Amino acid sequence: MSGNHGERIQAGSAQLRFPYDSHKRVEERAWIEARVMELAEYTDPESRGYTRLAFSKEDTLGRKAVSRFMKDAGLAVRVDAAGNIIGRMNGRQADAPIITTGSHIDTVREGGRFDGVAGVIAAIGAVRCLRSRDFPTQHPVEVVVFTSEEPNEFGASTVGSRAMAGTLDKRLLVTLKNKEGLSLDEAIQRVGGSAKGINEAARARGDTLAYLELHIEQGPTLDNMGIPVGVVNGIAGFARGQVTVVGSTDHAGTTPMDVRKDALVAAAEAIQVLERVGRRKDLPNTFATIGVVENYPNAANVVPGRVVMVTDVRNTEMEFIERAEHAFQEELRKISTRRGVDISFDRSNISFPVNMDTWVTGLIEESCQACGVPYHLMTSGAGHDASHMAGITRAGMIFVPSRMGKSHCPEEWTDFGDIALGAEILAATIFKIDERAKEVGEHGQGNC
Ligand code: GLV
Ligand code: MN
Ligand code: MN
Repeated sequence: MSGNHGERIQAGSAQLRFPYDSHKRVEERAWIEARVMELAEYTDPESRGYTRLAFSKEDTLGRKAVSRFMKDAGLAVRVDAAGNIIGRMNGRQADAPIITTGSHIDTVREGGRFDGVAGVIAAIGAVRCLRSRDFPTQHPVEVVVFTSEEPNEFGASTVGSRAMAGTLDKRLLVTLKNKEGLSLDEAIQRVGGSAKGINEAARARGDTLAYLELHIEQGPTLDNMGIPVGVVNGIAGFARGQVTVVGSTDHAGTTPMDVRKDALVAAAEAIQVLERVGRRKDLPNTFATIGVVENYPNAANVVPGRVVMVTDVRNTEMEFIERAEHAFQEELRKISTRRGVDISFDRSNISFPVNMDTWVTGLIEESCQACGVPYHLMTSGAGHDASHMAGITRAGMIFVPSRMGKSHCPEEWTDFGDIALGAEILAATIFKIDERAKEVGEHGQGNC
């Protein structure tokens, strides 16, 4: 998306009680742009695009910068046991449940500048907006930078939000290690967390009134439709699995072609099979990918003896994920028999499909309507920290357009005007949640 959507806003809307004049919006857009671009500088110089892997040197620099942005915005900053950075603005009611908003700043390898970062900066921007407008909230507002949202080198993802939701398996902290032998536990310690006390990062149901996350769409829908805001009603689930193919390691120059047990050739068939499963008409809206392939011993003159791959299968219906994995495993058995190789499949990670809370979603829609901003109700194919926060509170998400749908790549782009507009909808929704908390009974649960 490009262009300024200012003309779509009804300035001083009485209904919204959140007038955000166009002068302020231009200022906020510049503020957001400067912070997003500063974070983009904390990238591994050896990599193409933008690489700020969780727990890396660049991640540490990014975390320091965001803490500074939070302090400058008047937030009290602390780091919880999971390494989540939390910036707090107190509410008028000291013990009221918290309105939480945030996202992540870690990236995939050779990724973009906006995934996660847009949501973190917009969240701080929303707080600036609330403060500058003298709209102190009844409820405390916390901006959270969740630790390690992306799949990390330890083989885990959404570490911080799982910990906050109380669903992070503590055993993984010691068993998961990176290639240098560092445990996830030690990595969390390095960013100021304390894995031993990880339970302290967990929030009880009722501690949080609602969770809101702004994120770039990471797909082409909004950009194609020319609509600046997506209101998310559900997040697809995903299952990751490890495929291990074991054949026979042999000499490439002497082993006859008809007796080889080439693990990589079998793996290549498996990759094609998974793609076909993902395209099956009876499994609509399935996304099936193999994005990790490790070939051993990976030498030009050796027939590959072992291949390890990671599958990622997604759908908004868990039943379709299960059926797709089942169909894939049946095909793996056929490849194994035909090629005389051993193939195992183990599901390593699951994130269930979740619905966003209808009350929160309704308030985001109301905020868009009151601002005169066109929006589109949609599901998210990408995973988010919001999936885990939905387990302990009412969660909602605001999407802003990704140019040509590009994401997880250096070309990822979102117009800063769209982020500023999204931040404004975020602020307006925080304000509505704060004002109308009684509708849901402050400590009650949403429909999650
Ligand atoms: C998160 O980036 C995902 O894998 O969807
Ligand atoms: Mn991502
Ligand atoms: Mn993300």
